[in-house]
Amino acid sequence: MLWIIGSCNIDLTVKVERFPNEGETVLALESHTSVGGKGANQAVGAAVWKINPKLIASVGSDTFGKQAFQTLQQYGVDTSSIVASDKHPTGMAWIEIDKRGNNRITVVPGANVDLLAGQILPNLVSLKETDYVLAQLEIPVKSVESAFAYAKRKGATTILNLSPSFEGVEVLLSLTDLLVLNEKEYCQLTKISSFLEAMEEAKAHFFRYGITALVVTAGELGAFLSMKNSSFVHFPSPKVQVVDSSGAGDAFLGTFSAWMVMGKSIEEALKAAVISGSLACCRLGTMSAIPDPMQVLQHLKNAI
Ligand code: RIB
Repeated sequence: MLWIIGSCNIDLTVKVERFPNEGETVLALESHTSVGGKGANQAVGAAVWKINPKLIASVGSDTFGKQAFQTLQQYGVDTSSIVASDKHPTGMAWIEIDKRGNNRITVVPGANVDLLAGQILPNLVSLKETDYVLAQLEIPVKSVESAFAYAKRKGATTILNLSPSFEGVEVLLSLTDLLVLNEKEYCQLTKISSFLEAMEEAKAHFFRYGITALVVTAGELGAFLSMKNSSFVHFPSPKVQVVDSSGAGDAFLGTFSAWMVMGKSIEEALKAAVISGSLACCRLGTMSAIPDPMQVLQHLKNAI
């Protein structure tokens, strides 16, 4: 079983010809409102593979919170561990997309800050050794630490999507089995300026914490995997016409985690995940851009 501990937001996405400069106003070409948040998107990205993942999250006691429950249930996510908080409204994300599909995201955390260990741990009592626990960092880091410490005690496998990335996550890394981050986050944390030029030397920065696998997503290049500090192996992605890349990482994580839970090898999971992430760039939005699994399987078949 897959357990996802993470954020749930309402996304306001605007497509612009170009990002506005400071003090400038630009008119949007298109806009889109939907349920989002890295935790919710990744849960849906996994749910489309019919594995009924459980999302542990916090939304506000408001209309957006209700919309989140309904949408997640429609996709097949188990929402029984999502709490409606009275302290803050549902989190929100302001997403700008330029005509090349590049994105800028600002998140207002809202009720995501109310997802504390006291709410998470009782929900994990039935966690089993064969289960996977996936988390990102749009919720309090201490909550993820507590959840991962508990998961490790139970013998489950932990997957950390270190996004958004920041310093001071040493304890969390020491509780992580599979680490996934993008090339920008990798460069930021290892203090290198070019991922392709320095990725090999920099990876020891993460392996010193005892992780078993390091996955770095690299946009149109696909993803790179290093197991137990071995050299990176490249998983290229198919070429697509990019409309909006904001949901790519979450589609990738959803498919990757689902395939691991389905008993596939990490290499098989990554091949499917890079296709899923690429196809998610073809539509505007995050959750709504998660591709149909049949499309992913067709691409995999064509690649053989
Ligand atoms: O990864 C994309 C997500 O980041 C968006 O859905 C937004 O809510 C932010 O959390």
